Amino acid sequence: MGTLIRLSVGLVTTGSVAAWAVLNDRIDVYRFGGGRIIQLLDPENAHKFAIFAAKRGFAPRQQHSYSEWEGLQTQVWGRHFANPIGLAAGFDKHAEAIDGCLAMGFGFVEVGSVTPEPQPGNPKPRVFRLIKDRAVINRYGFNSVGLEAFEKNLKARESQHEVQPGVVGVNLGKNKTTPEAEAGVDYSRGAIKLCEYADYIVVNVSSPNTPGLRNLQGKDPLRSLLGSVVSARDSALASRAHDARPPILVKIAPDLHEHNLRDVAEVVMELGIDGIIVSNTTVGRPDKLLSSSDVVKEAGGLSGPPLRELSTKILGDIYRLTEGKVPLVGCGGVSTGEDAYMKIRAGASLVELYTALIYDGPRAVSRIKGELAEALQRDGFKSVQEAVGADHTQ
Ligand SMILES: Cc1cc2nc3c(=O)[nH]c(=O)nc-3n(C[C@H](O)[C@H](O)[C@H](O)COP(=O)(O)O)c2cc1C
Repeated sequence: MGTLIRLSVGLVTTGSVAAWAVLNDRIDVYRFGGGRIIQLLDPENAHKFAIFAAKRGFAPRQQHSYSEWEGLQTQVWGRHFANPIGLAAGFDKHAEAIDGCLAMGFGFVEVGSVTPEPQPGNPKPRVFRLIKDRAVINRYGFNSVGLEAFEKNLKARESQHEVQPGVVGVNLGKNKTTPEAEAGVDYSRGAIKLCEYADYIVVNVSSPNTPGLRNLQGKDPLRSLLGSVVSARDSALASRAHDARPPILVKIAPDLHEHNLRDVAEVVMELGIDGIIVSNTTVGRPDKLLSSSDVVKEAGGLSGPPLRELSTKILGDIYRLTEGKVPLVGCGGVSTGEDAYMKIRAGASLVELYTALIYDGPRAVSRIKGELAEALQRDGFKSVQEAVGADHTQ
């Protein structure tokens, strides 16, 4: 009995010390195989744990000694980005861990998607790892705390003593129960409520997990939707000079055909929309997936390396269709600096990632930036900006 008690006390103590060490970054969880341990949690709990850690400043941070190549600094929409690598939407869905995420070394963080009213999203399980492909399928379905609570989180951040420097984008979605025809009202509510906190606003019409959402990428619905969001922002910030208002971007799916892409490009140019994020997850399932068919056939959007080729191709198409005149954010399957470099050459001014963080942990951010700097210098570029769209000119 005594032995049993001693054993239990020992286990609890060791567990607590280990948890303390991990949470305080005394141990790099990822370097010591912790990535695999975190992966023993089911994907949604692992996500919650990661947000918990980032929110309390326990997630691994970029070392202070890290020195970044100056050429990674860039300027888009008149805003300064310390580097072009950002965290894509969907990780910090409720804007609760912005500083923890920026501290990982990202140049910018996109929070959301947020829906006007709180909603639970789809039933669980709704996130699946495709480990052999280092990919993920998710069908969260916009689980959101809603605008009220989301704004509270942003307000609380503003009232903090110190915030991490970096650009913060706000990604807007619509409620599941809002009819497609009234989608403009949902996105406009988001823009009005949150524009004062946002460095840029994203109209997300490409998540595959809200029925009918992707129809909003069609020419007429998109024109009307983006038109209302621009007006909503302008009326909410009428006292601000035009260039001090947050730019509005639209985020598109990688599954659009050439004629859909042409429509998107036309509407964006016609309305003077400030940027396009290419892309969200895909509903396609490439033949070359290695993971078991049980998980591959789960419904939802696929992200990670299997999405890379498709999303980079669509990015190049959009760059061509918008004649290089609209800043693009390349997203989809980036897990190395070379991947980011390919997006930049294809036309991206900025690059986002999410799934790589799930598999490689926060240390991936510094690694990717280092590799990107090396690739740019290897090819004779003095800055990110110089390389944007290089594939189209050479
Ligand atoms: C678990 C998960 C949740 C996501 N949630 C959102 C979301 O709420 N809004 C959004 O615009 N994109 C969302 N995305 C898509 C990502 O922002 C990104 O576009 C996509 O994952 C491709 O990038 P990646 O291959 O680097 O992950 C989500 C992705 C994942 C994996």
